[in-house]
Amino acid sequence: MNKLELIKSSIKSIPDYPKAGIVFRDITSLVETPEAFHACINIITEEFKNKGITKVIGTESRGFIFGAPVALALGLPFVLVRKPGKLPRETLAQSYELEYGQDTLEIHTDSIVEGDNVLIIDDLLATGGTVDATVKLVRALKGDVKHAAFIINLPELGGEQRLKEMGVTPFCLVD
Ligand code: PRP
Ligand code: ADE
Repeated sequence: MNKLELIKSSIKSIPDYPKAGIVFRDITSLVETPEAFHACINIITEEFKNKGITKVIGTESRGFIFGAPVALALGLPFVLVRKPGKLPRETLAQSYELEYGQDTLEIHTDSIVEGDNVLIIDDLLATGGTVDATVKLVRALKGDVKHAAFIINLPELGGEQRLKEMGVTPFCLVD
C-alpha cells in the first residue's frame, strides 16, 4: 500500500454525524496509526520546505494536530487560530459558516506581521468557511497567504474553488 492509500484507509466515515445527511470524516483513527500520521506530516513538510513560508497557522482544534508537527519540522513559528474567548491577549475576530453551523475564529493581533507568508493547516476542507475566515484574519494583519494544506478534501462542498478565488492554492492529500 502506498502512503496516500495508507492515509485514506486509516480515515473512518461515519454517516449522519453530527447531523442527519452529514458523512463525518474521522481522523482519530488516522492519528492512532503512527505510520499514517507520520506520512501526513512528511508529505506536507516536503511540499512546503522551499516555498518561503515564514509561519504556520493551525485552526482549532483538529488543525492543531497536524499544524504543530509541520511547523516544528519546518523550523517555523506555530500560530494558533482559536474559537472565541480562548486567547488571552488582544485578538482579532472573524465569523464564518460551517457545513453544520456558524462560528467565530480569533487570532492574537501580534501573531502575524507585515511580510509574513503564512501556510494554513487544517485536517479537512469542506465548504472552506474556516480557512476563508483564517485567510481574512491573516490579511487584516497585513500578512500574506498563498497556500493551505489539508489531509482531506470534500470536493462536492466547493471549498477548493472558494479558496482558489481568494488567491490561495489548496494542497490536499486525499478525497
Ligand atoms: C471542522 C474541520 C475544519 C472545518 C472544515 O472543524 O476540522 O476546521 O470543520 O469545514 P469548512 O471547510 O466547511 O469550514 P470544526 O469547526 O468542526 O471544529 P473542530 O476541529 O474543533 O472539530
Ligand atoms: N468538518 C466539516 N465537515 C466535516 C465532515 N464532513 N467530516 C469531518 N469534519 C468536518
